[in-house]
Amino acid sequence: MSKFWSPFVKDLVPYVPGEQPKLAKLVKLNTNENPYGPSPKALEAMRAELNDNLRLYPDPNSDLLKQAVAEYYGVQGNQVFLGNGSDEVLAHIFHGLFQHDAPLLFPDISYSFYPVYCGLYGIPYEAVALDEQFQIRVEDYQRANAGIIFPNPNAPTGCLLALDAIEQLLKASPDSVVVVDEAYIDFGGQTAISLVDRYPNLLVTQTLSKSRSLAGLRVGLAVGHPDLIEALERIKNSFNSYPLDRMAIVGAAAAFQDKAYFDETCRKVIDSREQLVAELTARGFEVLPSAANFIFARHPEQDAAGLAARLREQGVIVRHFKQERIAQFLRITIGTPEQNQALLDALN
Ligand SMILES: Cc1ncc(COP(=O)(O)O)c(C=O)c1O
Repeated sequence: MSKFWSPFVKDLVPYVPGEQPKLAKLVKLNTNENPYGPSPKALEAMRAELNDNLRLYPDPNSDLLKQAVAEYYGVQGNQVFLGNGSDEVLAHIFHGLFQHDAPLLFPDISYSFYPVYCGLYGIPYEAVALDEQFQIRVEDYQRANAGIIFPNPNAPTGCLLALDAIEQLLKASPDSVVVVDEAYIDFGGQTAISLVDRYPNLLVTQTLSKSRSLAGLRVGLAVGHPDLIEALERIKNSFNSYPLDRMAIVGAAAAFQDKAYFDETCRKVIDSREQLVAELTARGFEVLPSAANFIFARHPEQDAAGLAARLREQGVIVRHFKQERIAQFLRITIGTPEQNQALLDALN
């Protein structure tokens, strides 16, 4: 702290991202990155873009990418918003679409950036308890609110909420914006984008950081009614006109166009997940049902923090959260078969 800080900065409680270790040898299963590289076509597109045009600003509207996303999901370009990672998209949503006259509702066990954005933008919130099985109970959200947001599948649990339950939520809160954060949807869920034409209060966010292996490029998106998108464009154009650089626009567009590579790598991650769940269950772990590229597991006889520390000593890093209800769980990203085996060897 310093005397130069404003009271506003003093009171902020920033998000703490998972560790990005400098040691290359570690088996890194702590931040839900994809173990496979990006589409070779995306890499090729970015290499071709590395030229003198970098002296020029990129297209502020990223039309090439907007079009690729719109075509992929069968929506219009004015239903798509793009940002520097879905974290930035989420920040603009909190800033521009959530009200301040009632609490924003999200699950008590959920993406830990949500309360941080509430602090940044002065939004009151209420964390709604998941049930005993760590599932979202939609009835609990049927009350006055400033908006509703939840990841689907949820993070860090990996549990999926069915589309008909999401529809029930949308119908019960027609006057507030409902955001479905689909960072992990491609690993086993059905996207709610199919509902956006019927529900003008629905906004779906996605990222290229997970299923499209581009966490290092920082590209995220939202799909919804053009009126919601316009609010986000207003915020974006009052903050940073060029959130996506030239590499990001062409690389992300090529990644969306390479469906064969996307399908193949998602399938590999899903198959590895099922194998890892079986192996961990055989070792006495309780594993929550996961539709994501990570699993959430606890062992009845092993303290989770201690286990994480001992795994780290053996070169395997996983994520442990100190939060009360989940302090005995570990969140483990699905790696390659070799990385998953390294985890199992370390556990053995
Ligand atoms: C639920 C959820 N939403 C959003 C994000 C942000 O992803 P990014 O900013 O890389 O697009 C993450 C990242 O881990 C996440 O877990």
